[in-house]
Amino acid sequence: MYDFLAFWDWAAFALRWLHVITAMAWIGSSFYFIALDLGLRKAPDLPPGAHGEEWQVHGGGFYHIRKYLVAPAQMPEHLIWFKWESYTTWLSGAALLMVVYWAGAELYLIDAAKADLAVWQAILISAASLTIGWIVYDFLCKSTLAERPTLLMMLLFVMLVVMGWGYDQIFTGRAMMLHLGAFTATIMTANVFFVIMPNQRIVVADLKAGRTPDPKYGKIAKLRSTHNNYLTLPVIFLMLSNHYPLAFATEYNWIIASLVFLMGVTIRHYFNTRHAGTGNPTWTWLVTALLFIAIIWLSTAPMYRDVETAEAQPLTVYETRMAAAEGFEAAHDVVMGRCSMCHAREPVWDGMLWAPKGVLLETEADIARNAKAIYLQAGVSHAMPPANVTFMEPEDRAAIVKWYRTAQQDAAQ
Ligand code: HEC
Repeated sequence: MYDFLAFWDWAAFALRWLHVITAMAWIGSSFYFIALDLGLRKAPDLPPGAHGEEWQVHGGGFYHIRKYLVAPAQMPEHLIWFKWESYTTWLSGAALLMVVYWAGAELYLIDAAKADLAVWQAILISAASLTIGWIVYDFLCKSTLAERPTLLMMLLFVMLVVMGWGYDQIFTGRAMMLHLGAFTATIMTANVFFVIMPNQRIVVADLKAGRTPDPKYGKIAKLRSTHNNYLTLPVIFLMLSNHYPLAFATEYNWIIASLVFLMGVTIRHYFNTRHAGTGNPTWTWLVTALLFIAIIWLSTAPMYRDVETAEAQPLTVYETRMAAAEGFEAAHDVVMGRCSMCHAREPVWDGMLWAPKGVLLETEADIARNAKAIYLQAGVSHAMPPANVTFMEPEDRAAIVKWYRTAQQDAAQ
């Protein structure tokens, strides 16, 4: 059982490692191609069908790249595809979502004060929202709105705001941000998988058969990849946000998320314009800064439900079980004595303004809810307290380990 928990934590770490690496490869190649596309130039000696060319220098060599707008006259012998960067990012991200937010639903996904969901209900909502969200988005892109890309972008923004608000009504703030990011990333990968790649395959098949490919496929792909371009930066913000309670642990977290999507547009607009060589819109940085200031301001609005309402909250099934387990009192006293000065709604530790990582450890419910995290951070490992500033004795750690393991054994019986 305990070994399984350690294994599980390492699995989460390994998945996160993989996820970050694949995301770097995906976003890196995506940025590269956007910049390449925008930097293309006309040249007198371009072959028929070629739209532009570019010279690049990197790693001790010169590269000469040409872009064919629809397709070259003949199918090239060696063709390199870029798709696994995107697929592996989504697959590893989905696995990570399951490990952290589905398996850890009681801790990270469900907020009983908002909606007292059973674990399976929360997981169902999590999965269904991502799927249905994609279907709606895809429908909008295939409608006549495709002819009016700016209006479509605005609708997409409204949709993201509504989803952020919706998630916040039922899930924890942390899960809300993460799900909004997961939804956005799902759109991006599904655009590659369901739209951009199939269209590219049609073009390749046409070429092989000696037909002239229809330029409409390129246009459809362009619409989707423009969305992906503007969504990239907000996705990264939303994914990182779960390490920063200031971003998610406020009542205005869904407005913060909405402003982040706007920052994604202002920042990308600057680089898109620069790379295209059509201007230097420095005003976008002013707008970005103003949006960021608004976010900082929103984040300091009332952060937590106060202790009274937290006390009045009925315990969930998991919390009740952990609080009833043998050894809870001893572990509770250790946590109150060694942890709560920092992990409080109003920390008393010098210079600490809010609970680190949003982890609260000052009521029985807090401690019961965070059993697993306490066990991992202060029982089996010595991660907490940082540098053992509150002088945890080996007996203190033993009390935590004993409580957690007893509770797990009880549950297993
Ligand atoms: C001196 C203040 C302080 C004390 C005392 C303290 N912590 Fe922390 N705790 C922190 C800080 C700072 C972080 C954030 C660390 C980081 O950002 O990686 C943190 C993070 C955590 C986390 C979240 C870890 C994660 O990565 O998600 C848990 C759980 C935790 N502490 C539990 C405890 C427990 C249990 C105790 C008592 C045994 C304790 N802490 C005592 C300051 C403290």
